[in-house]
Amino acid sequence: MIDCLRNLLRPVFCRPAATALVALALSAGAEAQTVPASSMSSRVLACTACHGKEGRATPDGYFPRIAGKPAGYLANQLLNFRDGRRSYPQMGYLIEHLTDDYLREMAEHFAAQDIPYSPPPPPQAPPALLEQGRQLVQQGAAARRIPACVSCHGSAMTGVAPSIPGLLGLPRDYLNSQLGAWKTGQRRAHVPDCMADIARQLTPEDVSAVSAWLAAQPVAAGGKPARTLPAAMPARCGGVAEVPVAAAAAR
Ligand code: HEC
Ligand code: HEC
Repeated sequence: MIDCLRNLLRPVFCRPAATALVALALSAGAEAQTVPASSMSSRVLACTACHGKEGRATPDGYFPRIAGKPAGYLANQLLNFRDGRRSYPQMGYLIEHLTDDYLREMAEHFAAQDIPYSPPPPPQAPPALLEQGRQLVQQGAAARRIPACVSCHGSAMTGVAPSIPGLLGLPRDYLNSQLGAWKTGQRRAHVPDCMADIARQLTPEDVSAVSAWLAAQPVAAGGKPARTLPAAMPARCGGVAEVPVAAAAAR
């Protein structure tokens, strides 16, 4: 199954993509190098087998939504999986030989999908734990050197283009596992890995609290990433360009 999915990513084995390339070569001459949108849709069938139609995720699985996430974030993740900073072998195998450019094109493809979010599942934790999660996300815990999550992920928690992801619309199990993986070093980002520093400050109870609270929040503003933050980010993060501060950007 995975072998046949992997073939989808290779135009030479994939009849619809090959046909599209020939058609493009005939109509566009020298521009035949670029990947036509239709062939990208057929190639990413390999991805949507797990990530759901158009990358919208499946109702209650672990597989994260990828549709509509910031393109730079998605591209960074594909590089992370390909280069071993993140690991999910069935997916890594699909992309291990793909070039940076190809991965970026796939990232752009999924980032451009504009698909409504489903309502969140009911909260799955006692009120006190949910309140602990809300406080950490919105205010952080200065005494324990935990910055508010919204200070980078945006006040609507829908992320900031091009490289900071949103925190909503993700399954609780997925959030728990990502924060846990950063604590143990199984998930890494480009250096300086700000999320590794933050995750290491979180206790296991903090992790359950933020994951339970985040997974129960509805997604505002169609989940669109913001373009600015109200104040400078509290730390530098690798692979993320300095985000403009709203007041400065308005000038
Ligand atoms: C066999 C199932 C499977 C297939 C096929 C698959 N993925 Fe994934 N993908 C996953 C899982 C599971 C994760 C989360 C892994 C983890 O725990 O970190 C993931 C994570 C991701 C992420 C990171 C999401 C985030 O929010 O950080 C991106 C981007 C992604 N996949 C893109 C793709 C693309 C593009 C393809 C097609 C080339 C693909 N995936 C194929 C299962 C799959
Ligand atoms: C200093 C900025 C910053 C702060 C503060 C911050 N984050 Fe992040 N976070 C990031 C960046 C940058 C990424 C993307 C990392 C990468 O490229 O893998 C990220 C990624 C994540 C992801 C992965 C999302 C996915 O789709 O896989 C989760 C979960 C997350 N952060 C949770 C949190 C939580 C919870 C807090 C608060 C306790 C927090 N973050 C605070 C910058 C920050």
